[in-house]
Amino acid sequence: MLENLDKIQAVALADLETIDDQGALESWRVANLGRSSPLMSIFDQLGGLPKEERPIIGRRANQVKGTLENKLEEKTEQLNAIQLQRTLETERLDVTLPGRKVVYGRLHPVTQTLRQMYQIFAEMGFQVYLSRDVETDEYNFQLLNFPPHHPAREMQDSFYIEGEYEQDNPLLLRTHTSPGQIHAMREYSSSNPQDPPPIRIILPGMCYRYEQISARYESQFTQVEGLAVGKNITFSDLKGTLSDFNKRIFGKNVRSRFRASHFPFTEPSAEVDIECFVCGGLGCPVCKRTGWLEILGCGMVHPTVLENGGYDPGIYTGFAFGIGPERITMLRHRIEDIRYFWANDFRFLDQF
Ligand code: DAH
Repeated sequence: MLENLDKIQAVALADLETIDDQGALESWRVANLGRSSPLMSIFDQLGGLPKEERPIIGRRANQVKGTLENKLEEKTEQLNAIQLQRTLETERLDVTLPGRKVVYGRLHPVTQTLRQMYQIFAEMGFQVYLSRDVETDEYNFQLLNFPPHHPAREMQDSFYIEGEYEQDNPLLLRTHTSPGQIHAMREYSSSNPQDPPPIRIILPGMCYRYEQISARYESQFTQVEGLAVGKNITFSDLKGTLSDFNKRIFGKNVRSRFRASHFPFTEPSAEVDIECFVCGGLGCPVCKRTGWLEILGCGMVHPTVLENGGYDPGIYTGFAFGIGPERITMLRHRIEDIRYFWANDFRFLDQF
């Protein structure tokens, strides 16, 4: 049997010498290393051999198998190299072919609006303050003066995050950018608790609500919060700032209207409308025949909120506002469905 193995190896290696293409090599592999090859039949016979012969034959058979496998690998590489060489020699590169068109990316329409807003507010002296997306109930609601059973706190409006937390202070995805007001005020006031510095910031970011998604409501959207705190800030500062913002973003002739409203964290509170720029205030489908388009919410920072931020409401006042960049983008481009923004559809995105 040992001689037999020697012969198997010698014949196989001699055959291998003559092979010069991949197909023949595969046939060689099947014939010499495949299931029904002479070598494999020797492995099959091992069990029937006398005990003393078994290890000797087995060892030799394994050696032959190893040798054949190594040679097969060598030959495969050799043939691949030859193949590559042939390809390089026969194929030609046509340098006169026209190039492929480069596809340019672009900024998302909401990013474009956000950047324009940063620019406008920067010119008015507002810095950008970034706050976190994951909040506690305390920051998202309690410190902003939401009463305990305010409807916005119900499970159906917020995405709560499972995990360990203090009792009555679960983690959630922020439902608005307003909790950033508290983080900012606390950071500023802790730098000098006796005489905290004035604040003039905007706080942009993604917000999340457990909404029934529709043309008007998405479960995620951006907001730009604004906050100004100082010693002599009045409601007319708020009106001036926001009327000017509206002119800069919608056009210099646009008129603004302040309507009394309610938010827990501001007092007094207002909602701001601009005169419909589609119909000039006459009434059309875009403004639902009212002549006005609602743009944002705002107000004077509630004394409790100032206090929660480390600012003495006897000395300081401030104003705040919250704007939805998707809404602004929709109005400017007459986009009728908010779901387009985060649906990643190129047919929509390519238009901006
Ligand atoms: N946080 C409010 C919301 O998500 C928006 C808002 C209204 C923010 C009035 C403010 C404000 O800062 O003063 O609906």
